[in-house]
Amino acid sequence: MSALTPRPGILKIAPYVPGKDTVEGKETVSKLSANEGALGPSPKAMAAYAKLAAEIYRYPDGDSTKLRAAIGRHYGLDAKRIICGAGSDELINLLVRAYAGPGDELLYSQYGFLMYPINALGVGATPVAAPEKDYRADVDALLAKVTDKTRIVCLANPNNPTGSYITKDDVRRLQAGLPKNVLLVIDAAYAEYVSRNDYESGVELVDQADNVVMTRTFSKIYGMGALRLGWAYASPGITDILHRARGPFNVSAAAQAAGVAALADEAFIEKSRAHNAEWRRWTAAELETLGLSPLPSAGNFLLVDFGDRDAEAARLHLKDTGILVRQMGGYGLPSCLRITIGTEEEMRAVVAALAEHLRGR
Ligand SMILES: Cc1ncc(COP(=O)(O)O)c(C=O)c1O
Repeated sequence: MSALTPRPGILKIAPYVPGKDTVEGKETVSKLSANEGALGPSPKAMAAYAKLAAEIYRYPDGDSTKLRAAIGRHYGLDAKRIICGAGSDELINLLVRAYAGPGDELLYSQYGFLMYPINALGVGATPVAAPEKDYRADVDALLAKVTDKTRIVCLANPNNPTGSYITKDDVRRLQAGLPKNVLLVIDAAYAEYVSRNDYESGVELVDQADNVVMTRTFSKIYGMGALRLGWAYASPGITDILHRARGPFNVSAAAQAAGVAALADEAFIEKSRAHNAEWRRWTAAELETLGLSPLPSAGNFLLVDFGDRDAEAARLHLKDTGILVRQMGGYGLPSCLRITIGTEEEMRAVVAALAEHLRGR
């Protein structure tokens, strides 16, 4: 009798390693390893979540009707073309499952978010990486890698872990160069943090093309990663496919209620954006003073190149002081660490600990 075996591709997956949140022997840690919103969730979202406690015996609204309406109002979009998911992770997974399979190729950028190749392997497709220039997605290199097997192109904009983004014109050029039967997934998980006038999250392109979908999340600026809530905006054709592919109750009632409340708290969103801009700028400048090279970032994190200094030794020193940052070996960037923008106290502490470490070398 033959042994139990998974479908081809699954065993090629190196499981995604999330940012750690504990250090042995330390009661409090600063978790700067998962790009979570620095200020936590909005008090209004917390209140909506708490209020739901007595209702948890009921199934949620499978269509996330109120939440889709709230997202539509907030972002000025047609709610019928919005679909919600258990994090944008689920939506990306559904898209890959729906549009790619064995023998197909999923194209992404060299330092693109690791979940894209993981999802490709999960359906038996082949992940294909296009080289980057200066840690930024390169439209020409991506287009050069398109073959008749390419089914999906995934672009995180801004990208995690590099923090780089490509302009609205470049995204448009990428879409224009793709065959119409290739799906372009624009993963705009960090869009709310971007304040550049040559950037566009993907909404405009979705409105113009049938083969484009934009994914968004409540895990970053809204600070609700634990609730697993994301959404996608797409053409009616893609929306229909996602509805067929998703589970009937894929978004919990708590996530829906907290999401609606979070969107209504404009002051909190603005405060989070301003906090991020201020402390990202401050931290980058301080790290440069220490002789490190933080890459320009449009997100809520900095990818810091340690050059010929030992990034892993620095990470371990930070860990000893109770500060967790993300190692980048899995991305092929072993000389780098990724540091999430946290509170003022956390940013001052991470800079002080790195200064101490580098002085002590
Ligand atoms: C680029 C990118 N896309 C998607 C996600 C997943 O977000 P979610 O929590 O909505 O699943 C992340 C999370 O780190 C991310 O960095």
